[in-house]
Order: sequence, then structure tokens, then C-alpha cells
Amino acid sequence: MKLFDVYPLNNITIEKALGSTVWDNNGTKYLDMYGGHAVISIGHTHPHWVKRIEEQLHKIAFYSNSVIIPLQQQLADKLATLSGKENYQLFLCNSGAEANENALKLASFHTGRKKIVAFKKSFHGRTSLAVAATDNPSIVAPVNETDNIIFLPFNDVNALHQCFVEEGANIAAVITEGIQGVGGINVASPLFLQTIRSLCDQYDALFIADSVQCGYGRTGKFFAHDHAGVNADIYSMAKGMGNGFPIGGILIAPHIQPKHGMLGTTFGGNHLACAAALAVLEVMEDEALVQAAAENGTYLMEQLKTIPEIENVRGLGFMIGFDVPENIKDLKKVLLQEYKIFTGEAKPNVIRLLPSLALTKAQIDECIASIKQAIIFLNKPSA
Ligand SMILES: Cc1ncc(COP(=O)(O)O)c(C=O)c1O
Repeated sequence: MKLFDVYPLNNITIEKALGSTVWDNNGTKYLDMYGGHAVISIGHTHPHWVKRIEEQLHKIAFYSNSVIIPLQQQLADKLATLSGKENYQLFLCNSGAEANENALKLASFHTGRKKIVAFKKSFHGRTSLAVAATDNPSIVAPVNETDNIIFLPFNDVNALHQCFVEEGANIAAVITEGIQGVGGINVASPLFLQTIRSLCDQYDALFIADSVQCGYGRTGKFFAHDHAGVNADIYSMAKGMGNGFPIGGILIAPHIQPKHGMLGTTFGGNHLACAAALAVLEVMEDEALVQAAAENGTYLMEQLKTIPEIENVRGLGFMIGFDVPENIKDLKKVLLQEYKIFTGEAKPNVIRLLPSLALTKAQIDECIASIKQAIIFLNKPSA
């Protein structure tokens, strides 16, 4: 049987990983500045994470949500402490798209309304409503098309005001990333997020903070939206939450009431996933990784800004992007092939850096030296 060929692949087989280092099947070592797509939060195969999962595996891996699973409450308590969203409620699922799907559905249940405001260059996942709220027609199937999504320009406060004046009574939710990831590392301005908050309050709509990529400490605060000093009504989470173990969830503000049967999933919140997610939060706390991401992310960004050939270095913490001009357009490829560094990208010309929050200063220096070397390599007449 063939694999369904939907992923453009690098011809590399990764066999082993530790921290921010991965090795291929030939023993070649790579620096992971991509965090396996912003998923690796505490570092690959962190010993505490491995131990927690292993120990749980010997007890029980799964039972359905028809019984009490104390690990879920432990995870909720730990999340409350680390995120500071003390009175919020937790619903667990399995992926980022599922988290957003549930967030949007919940907003519609709660308000009884149908319209969703989303933004240009947004990415919220590939399931029906999440993909409809994603600004990429090429991944929206005809069956996903709906008139219920209103797309507005990102960071445009006037467009938001205008939209609420016209449609306010029909709007269930506004959904936005704190920093757009797939869209190319576009940071939401504090004024933009504050305006969403005040308009949602004024019109009884819900503010959904898609924190799947920008959340979980990556930007130097637990949620990227925290930089604006506002609380959302729902935070969606996934990627960094399990450090590679599939788990997602939504944090739900106390004023939103649950009802039996309103949301549900077979696998969400299973014992093994909760053990993995608890291990992540324990390591984040023990190793002060949110603070580390803030400090070392700033250092990485400062270093990138000293490289004249790259443009528009931007981001927060370890969610960083920069533009690659035409004359060095193969930078990403050369970094991987010649300098053994994984990076991310956003079309057409952005390199995204999304490393583990535990990336060290020495690894940052190594990355910067390699970028400089790669640019020299690309500028050689023969390259
Ligand atoms: C901001 C954002 N939301 C949602 C998703 C979807 O997450 P998943 O691939 O786990 O469904 C992604 C994935 O890249 C994302 O970046």
C-alpha cells in the first residue's frame, strides 16, 4: 500500500532526538530550530517526560471519558497555576484543529449566533469550521464553504469597529492567533487585541485566542495574547502541550456554562496524554522555560538583526520570522543540506524559527554562525 502523498518531504529519516538535537539514520546530527513544527516545547525525549509516560503506560493508557480520570484534574490545576487563568475550565481533545473546532462550536452554542470573525493570513486547522476560518481557499473543500465567516484585515482596528457596527448582533466569536504562524510570523498589536476584547464585551461575543502555535510559553508569556494584557474567553492549545504526544485542549472562561453532551471526544484527555502533558508543565516550571524563551528568544532576535542580508526580523520569544530576499532565496535549503539545521518556512519567502523553549545560548550562537556561513556560501559566484 502507498502512503497518501500529501506532504512534500525532505529526503531525511530522523531516528533519534535529544533536546534540540536530532540524528538521522546515517548518524548525521542536526540542530532543530523548527521544534518539529513548533511542537517540541521542553526538548525532544526529555528524561522526565519519558519517565512519566513510561510509568503511566505500566498502569493504564486509556479509559473512556465515562469514568473519573484524576490526571485530568491534576492537569487542569497545573495549567491554572502556570497560565494564570485560575478560574477557567478545561476541555481536552487531540489536536489543534479539534481545539479550534470545539472553541468555535462552543461560542456558537453559548451565544446562539452563527457569524465568526477571522483574519487575513490566519490558520486555524483543517477540520470543517476551523478550515472555513482559515484564510487559504486551496485547503477549503467545497463542503466546508460557508457564509458564516467574515474575514477582516489583521491588525486593522477600524475594520473591526465597522464590522461590529454592521454585524455585531450576529457575531458569535472573533478568533485570532496572538502571532500568526503559518501566515508568516505577524504579531498582533496590543491595541488590536484590546479592541477585540472591548468589542466582544460590548456585543456579547466571545474572544477566542488561537494559541495552538503561539501559546504554551513560546513567546515568553504563557499565552501570546497575554502581551496585550487582556484575557480571552477561550484559549485553544495543542502543539507544545504534549511535547510531541498528541493532545489538545481549550481553556474556557468561568462565565461559559457546560451542559452534558455539548462537547465530547473518545480519545481526548486519556491517561497517557494527560501524563505527557503534566510532564511538560512540570518541566516548564522546574526549568523556568517560559522565562528562558523570553530571554534567549530576545538574544536570538538581536543576533539575527545583526545579519544585514536578512530582512524584517520579527516575533516574540522563540516564535521568530524573517524575510529572505531573492538573492539568497535558497537559504532554508542550504541551512538544512550544508549546515544541518532544520528551520520552518512561510510562503513565499519567510523563514520561521520555532525551537524548543530549552534551546541554549550556545545553540543560538551555532545557528547564527551557520546562517552567516550559509549566506556567504549562497553569495559565492558558483553557488
Ligand atoms: C495557529 C494554529 N492553529 C491551529 C493549527 C492546527 O493544529 P493541528 O495541526 O494540530 O490540527 C495550527 C497548526 O499548524 C496552527 O498553527
